[in-house]
Amino acid sequence: MERIGIIGVGEIGRAIVDGLCDGVENPPEIYLSPRGSRTAAELSQRYPNAQVCADNQDVANRSEIVLIAVRPQDRSEALAGLRIGSDRVVVSLMAGIGIDELRQTLGTDAPLVRAIPLPAVRERRSVTVTCPSHPAVDALFDGLGGAFPVADEAGFNVFSALTATLTTHYWYLATLTDWASRQGVPSEDADRYIRGLFQGVERSLGDDTRSLHQLAGDHETPNGINERIRTTWFDAANSEALTKALDALLADLT
Ligand SMILES: NC(=O)c1ccc[n+]([C@@H]2O[C@H](COP(=O)([O-])OP(=O)(O)OC[C@H]3O[C@@H](n4cnc5c(N)ncnc54)[C@H](OP(=O)(O)O)[C@@H]3O)[C@@H](O)[C@H]2O)c1
Repeated sequence: MERIGIIGVGEIGRAIVDGLCDGVENPPEIYLSPRGSRTAAELSQRYPNAQVCADNQDVANRSEIVLIAVRPQDRSEALAGLRIGSDRVVVSLMAGIGIDELRQTLGTDAPLVRAIPLPAVRERRSVTVTCPSHPAVDALFDGLGGAFPVADEAGFNVFSALTATLTTHYWYLATLTDWASRQGVPSEDADRYIRGLFQGVERSLGDDTRSLHQLAGDHETPNGINERIRTTWFDAANSEALTKALDALLADLT
């Protein structure tokens, strides 16, 4: 696919444009909606193959694949009245908006696909869940780190809920660092140490010959200090609270 449009040029839109263009020899033509004007202007200045369109309809007219990357609450304003030809492919990145609803809003026969790109598409190293599988869309995300098509929207929503845990992970690391600072450790030392410690964890996650429970077990001395924190903090009540939060999110996404 050579012509890609983005309606809603914010954080994730920018990451996708960077991933498609930065250091790429033959990047696609990119058409950006005018809203989010600072980001759109910046991208069109940086990449000669990217241009800002007159309005959202102009994006839809010029693009073979149209990515919808507005916030879910802005969808009516962004999409109402838009005419999308059946020869286009529409990819919605909006969390929690199902294909049936999107088809009703857009009133088009064009293939509609949902996708969950994450900010690391910027470095072309994030796997993007898609539903349903579409060859052009999967090829697009293959170029950004990989496409992971799932068969139905029920499964897609489970993956969507999983991605919602990402910033909690950063918050967990920040909480550990803050605690160490309160014990008198210089905060930059705590920050550097925590980053290094968990980069090591990331490397061990690359070993898929061991299950996640095995990896935990292999890092844990029986009755040792890791086991102590895991069982006293990540206890049954904590685990249940996480499960409940995920269940509630999934219910809302469904
Ligand atoms: N961020 C992520 O990691 C991520 C990952 C996967 C999926 N998503 C999904 O992607 C969508 C965008 O998320 P985001 O984090 O990129 O949000 P964001 O940074 O707030 O970007 C949304 C963009 O949409 C623009 N916009 C608002 N109304 C519009 C309209 N009527 N026409 C065209 N553009 C309009 C906004 O412009 P203004 O600034 O002028 O309002 C803004 O530039 C959401 O639906 C989210 O669920 C995000």
